[in-house]
Amino acid sequence: MIEILPETPALHAEAIEALYDRTFGPGHFAKTAERLREGTLSLPALSRVALQDGRLIAACRLWPLEVGAERLPAVFVGPVAVSPDFQGQRLGLTVTGEALEAATEADWPAAVIIGAPGYFGELGFQRVAPGTLIFPGPQDPNRIMVRDLAGKASDLFGAVRVPLHPERYL
Ligand SMILES: CC(C)(COP(=O)(O)OP(=O)(O)OC[C@H]1O[C@@H](n2cnc3c(N)ncnc32)[C@H](O)[C@@H]1OP(=O)(O)O)[C@@H](O)C(=O)NCCC(=O)NCCS
Repeated sequence: MIEILPETPALHAEAIEALYDRTFGPGHFAKTAERLREGTLSLPALSRVALQDGRLIAACRLWPLEVGAERLPAVFVGPVAVSPDFQGQRLGLTVTGEALEAATEADWPAAVIIGAPGYFGELGFQRVAPGTLIFPGPQDPNRIMVRDLAGKASDLFGAVRVPLHPERYL
């Protein structure tokens, strides 16, 4: 049986990092998305892991972001990863969907992701017009997508940054 649970860092963080290393390879730390995860804190209560018999087989982390001159809050989604022996069961969409539900219940207005439109489009993510969101590094504009949660993703415009005080969002 597969269980989907919030991340408990003391139990899951090491296995999540190992899963990311295995599925993305060591180069993933060089990506622009990682600039938005360095020096900040993830949101374990909203992040989701999938476990089978206690083994961690999929994960989706959420992170706080602030967007534009008004520093509007949004969650940054990812990385999303599924252990190779469990891929093909849409488990990545399941953990991501449950994380987004938790974020909506916690009143986060919108979500941002850098990912494959063909995959994350299924969860309601839509590409933004080029120039709408400015990331701290080069980024393929075709992979930048947003989604409404408890508010409107169309309010998001401008620079995408890590929060000044990420601990406020925990
Ligand atoms: C991407 C990943 C999470 C998907 O795993 P999964 O949830 O098991 O996905 P599935 O294989 O069940 O695919 C579900 C559907 O999405 C499609 N899909 C999978 N990966 C896709 C991609 N990169 N782009 C477009 N569509 C994709 C599949 O074809 C399938 O479509 P179908 O239902 O119409 O057949 C997994 O392959 C993985 O961990 N990859 C390495 C890490 C990564 O690239 N993560 C995503 C970026 S954050």
